[in-house]
Amino acid sequence: MKANPKTLAKGLATFVPGVNRFLGRRPGGSVSARYCYSVWLRHLLRISVCSPRPILDTIAELGPGDSLGLGLAAILSGAKTYFAFDVQPHARPPINLAVFDELVSLFGKRSAIPDAAEFPRILPNLSDHSFPDHLLSPSLLDLSLSAPRLEMIRSALMESRTSGPIRYKAPWFAASERIPGTVDFAFSQAVMEHVDHPEEAYEALHCWLAPGGLMAHSIDYASHGYAKDWYGHWTVADFTWRLLRGGRPYLINRFPHSAHIAAIRRAGFEIEIDERIEDSP
Ligand SMILES: C[S@@+](CC[C@H](N)C(=O)[O-])C[C@H]1O[C@@H](n2cnc3c(N)ncnc32)[C@H](O)[C@@H]1O
Repeated sequence: MKANPKTLAKGLATFVPGVNRFLGRRPGGSVSARYCYSVWLRHLLRISVCSPRPILDTIAELGPGDSLGLGLAAILSGAKTYFAFDVQPHARPPINLAVFDELVSLFGKRSAIPDAAEFPRILPNLSDHSFPDHLLSPSLLDLSLSAPRLEMIRSALMESRTSGPIRYKAPWFAASERIPGTVDFAFSQAVMEHVDHPEEAYEALHCWLAPGGLMAHSIDYASHGYAKDWYGHWTVADFTWRLLRGGRPYLINRFPHSAHIAAIRRAGFEIEIDERIEDSP
C-alpha cells in the first residue's frame, strides 16, 4: 500500500529547515469554543460513569492544540488548576481569551451540548444533549462564573505560565518538570495517536496523577489523510513512513488500540472503560 503522494511530498519538503513553519498543519478544533464545550462535557459525562462525583481540583490535558479551551471549560466547571502539556506552544492569548469569553456565555446559559449535526467527528455520540445539571449544579456554576473569578482567570491567561491556575508546559517531557501525585484528572482529545512515544506519555501521566486519579483519552485511529484508506497508515513501509514524517514535530504514531491498552496497563493504570466506536468510512 502506498502513502498519499501529496502528504509524502510535503513530508519530504519538511526536511528543509524552516519549511515546516509554512507547510505544517494547524492542530485544529480547539479554536472553537463550541467544540471545546462539546468535547469537555463529553469527557465529564464519561468519567462520571466511573466516579459519580469526580474530584476535579487539578486537571491536566495532553495536546490542547490551538487554544487552551478544553482546560478553560474544565476551569469553568470548577477546576482550580489546569496543566496543559503540549509538544509545541500552539495556543496564543488572544485566541484563549476569545474562546474563554464564549465558554463563559455557554456555561452561563447552561447551553445544550453541541451534537453530531454540528460536530460529526466528536465521539462518543450522546443520547441526551441537555446540559448536565446533575454534575454542574447552579450553585457550583454561580461560584465558578463569579465576576472576580472570571477576572482572575482572564489575567492568568495573560500572565506567567509557571504558577497560578493555568500552567502551559510546551514542551512538557522533562522529568524535572513533573509534580508527582498532583493531578485529579488527566485527559486528551485526538492526541494519543500523534504522540511519538505513548508508553512514556502514559508513564508520565501516571506519575502526575494523585492516588485514585482518573485519566481519559479519545483516540482517532484513522489514517488522517496520510493514506487513501482509513487503515492505510498501517500498511505503509517504515522507510516510506519516515520520509512522509519528514521534519514535522509529530505525525501519527501508528500504534494500534491494543498497543495503547497494553501501554496504559504497563504504566500502572486499571482500565474501567474501553469504548471502541466504529466510524462510518
Ligand atoms: C490533532 S491536535 C489535537 C488538538 C486538540 N486536542 C483538539 O482536540 O483540537 C494534536 C495535538 O497533539 C499535540 N502533540 C503531539 N505530540 C505530542 C506529545 N508528545 N506530547 C503532547 N502533545 C503532543 C500536538 O502538538 C497537537 O496540539
